[in-house]
Amino acid sequence: MIILDGKKVSNDIKNEIAAEVEKMKANGEKVPHLAAIIVGDDGASLTYVGSKVKACERVGFESTLVKMAHTTSELELLKKIKELNEDDNIDGFIVQLPLPPQIDTQKVLLTVDPSKDVDGFHPENFGKMALDMSTFIPATPFGILELLQRYEVDTKGKHTVVIGRSHIVGRPMSILMSRKGWPGNSTVTLTHSNTKNIAQITTQADIIISALGVPNFLKAEMVKDDAVIIDVGITRVEDESHPKGYVITGDVDFENVSKKASFITPVPGGVGPMTIAMLLKNTLLAREQRK
Ligand code: GUN
Repeated sequence: MIILDGKKVSNDIKNEIAAEVEKMKANGEKVPHLAAIIVGDDGASLTYVGSKVKACERVGFESTLVKMAHTTSELELLKKIKELNEDDNIDGFIVQLPLPPQIDTQKVLLTVDPSKDVDGFHPENFGKMALDMSTFIPATPFGILELLQRYEVDTKGKHTVVIGRSHIVGRPMSILMSRKGWPGNSTVTLTHSNTKNIAQITTQADIIISALGVPNFLKAEMVKDDAVIIDVGITRVEDESHPKGYVITGDVDFENVSKKASFITPVPGGVGPMTIAMLLKNTLLAREQRK
């Protein structure tokens, strides 16, 4: 069994990006600038956005954090997005999700300039991804592809089962794994909350990508021997014995599933750190395209 070490790989990627930034600086070029908008004060979202800003510092990017109150109106947020669209100093930006209920998320995502949409959530970019055109690939799926590639995991002709159909992970992942090329060329089954007999499907899988958000959902008896297991779950589970009062728990019963797997991602330290590294990669790409 091989652990897909997202912490190590994401560090390698950050070092590669930092080297690119050094070259830009040496040539007197502008360094990439990522902005993030966060609406409200959800603890988990603030932590994620904070990590993104810290990662920018680590690789030498400029970053801007725009904090808006949870009472922000849709119009106010759209105005802020248009400002960032027009700000020549900003190469790419993200709007942290989820948004408060008074704001229509789809309208927000449609307002982001596709050339600055480093999350890859705009329909134009999502469509390009589905049509094999060059574009921003959403960071979490992009990170999973990168992990599979760096560990030389064979995906061609394999049966990949994706659990969860979210717009951020499951849906794009199912498209990417079915695309031509590598990592891809898989036969994909996309399962979700209405799927019947899910264990019957997962036991047929060569590769399982679980993005459900249910702690310890995937048990050893749902997995065949030598399967590749990618755990995208990052649920906070209350735990008084832990200093923070919670532990981050994945979708996979790691202790038992890892005994059967050929490759497996841990939580934490698997897919999570990859997401941030790939957001940086998309931001670097956005800067290069704006030259
Ligand atoms: N919320 C959970 N994941 C993500 C992500 O990748 N990007 C943004 N903007 N919000 C998120």
